[in-house]
Amino acid sequence: MSDDRPGSTDDEGSRPEQSRYDQARYVRNGRYEPLLIEKDSTRVEIGDDSPLPEELTRDDLELPAPSEPELVRHYTRLSQMIYGIDSGPYPLGSCTMKYNPKFTEDVAALPSGLVHPDRSDESIQGTLEVLARLQEYLGRIGGMDAVTLQPPAGAAGEFVGIRVATAYHEHNGEGHRDEVIVPESAHGTNFATAALGGYDVVSLPSDEKGRVNIEALEAALSENTAALMLTNPNTLGLFERDISEIAEMVHDAGGLLYYDGANLNALLGRARPGDMGFDVMHYNVHKTFATPHGGGGPGAGPVGVVEELAPYLPEPRVRESGGGYELFSPEHSIGHVHGYQGNWLVLLKAFAYIARLGDEGLTDSSAKAVLNANYLASQIEYDVPYGPFHHEFVASAGDQDAADVAKRMLDYGVHPPTTKWPEIVPEALMTEPTEIESKETLDQLAAGFNAVAKEDDEALEAAPERTTARRIDQTSAARNPRLSWHALEEK
Ligand SMILES: Cc1ncc(COP(=O)(O)O)c(C=O)c1O
Repeated sequence: MSDDRPGSTDDEGSRPEQSRYDQARYVRNGRYEPLLIEKDSTRVEIGDDSPLPEELTRDDLELPAPSEPELVRHYTRLSQMIYGIDSGPYPLGSCTMKYNPKFTEDVAALPSGLVHPDRSDESIQGTLEVLARLQEYLGRIGGMDAVTLQPPAGAAGEFVGIRVATAYHEHNGEGHRDEVIVPESAHGTNFATAALGGYDVVSLPSDEKGRVNIEALEAALSENTAALMLTNPNTLGLFERDISEIAEMVHDAGGLLYYDGANLNALLGRARPGDMGFDVMHYNVHKTFATPHGGGGPGAGPVGVVEELAPYLPEPRVRESGGGYELFSPEHSIGHVHGYQGNWLVLLKAFAYIARLGDEGLTDSSAKAVLNANYLASQIEYDVPYGPFHHEFVASAGDQDAADVAKRMLDYGVHPPTTKWPEIVPEALMTEPTEIESKETLDQLAAGFNAVAKEDDEALEAAPERTTARRIDQTSAARNPRLSWHALEEK
């Protein structure tokens, strides 16, 4: 049976015996579950009162017209053909796809949440109060004096943070600072942010224990340093124990210390970046709290700063005023970075989660995140260098190819970890179970790792065998994506 969609293979003949880990496969007329438009469709007339130029409009449109049972079954079948956080654990180190409690969806669906952003401040006081309180919660959690909620993802938050740092240096006559230091183990977005911000990126090697190399930092710092971007715990899951010394060194050189808040779930309720000497940070609300993953947006990546940087934050921010709330522009604001106040419904989910958990619940969640990572690290048979860990660990696949390991884990009914990064661990398997998983699920994950660890190259290279689609050509999928159904039809 064949399927000409990207990434599919003509592989029915080689499929192994049925296993309890098999994903569903709905194939009709040689295709996986057809698109709705291919099943039943109807042509709909479109009125001619469009304000758009005639050459950009059409007179009619083909739309799917399934009955309700057909529609429900279509989406149910699609949901059975994939692996998702609602079907099992998803231990992607650093990126994290963790289960978001459904009550936050209920809160975001409340009719009172659906306010038009153009309404006057006076008529959306409740919305502004939620935003103001979220700014305050995040400030308190991070030890920051002021917060903007506008950036639509963690990476966007990084960019805003670096723009704020630039504005601060320029305003203080230090616009010549043109270097940002980034540890070699850092997330790719840190390098990209610094480069996009117009800086020369100075890569900082790690020491033999996987932490910031203090001597290398000493050598890298100069009167050209605008900032050092750091995440703590770092991407190996290790706490930077020298953080106070590092902060002092950066500040003595006249630079700012940027905190990549992606790993804040390891510290919640226990330690605060502001107290460690960080000047500016972003919050990955999808990792630390409960919101959808931004992945560039639409998510949320609020940014917190110390008092000296508050005048440069994006506009508008929210503040209390005369017994109510109002929007305002910080004095030297870098301007708008998103429409209105950011992705309001995503922010509302983060607010609901923080309010529901409270101080005690948040502190408990960081304990579980750390316990789960260390328990899983102790149960897997791959070599796990470094440690003890905080929220994540990086194992080494050794002689096996980490990408093959990832494909094979899918055959054991568990999602693989992030692979091949950071490069300081050969064939890296970067794993973050998060605070949500039970011991039973962690054992299931460990069993998946350990089964694959014993397998030979032949089994690994043939994987995945039990997924709906077999191994895809990742390079072609990334370089020559065909994103439109019409493009496929015309092929
Ligand atoms: C360490 C680190 N920094 C930054 C980011 C970027 O965040 P986002 O995916 O929300 O843009 C991530 C990804 O989650 C990350 O793991």
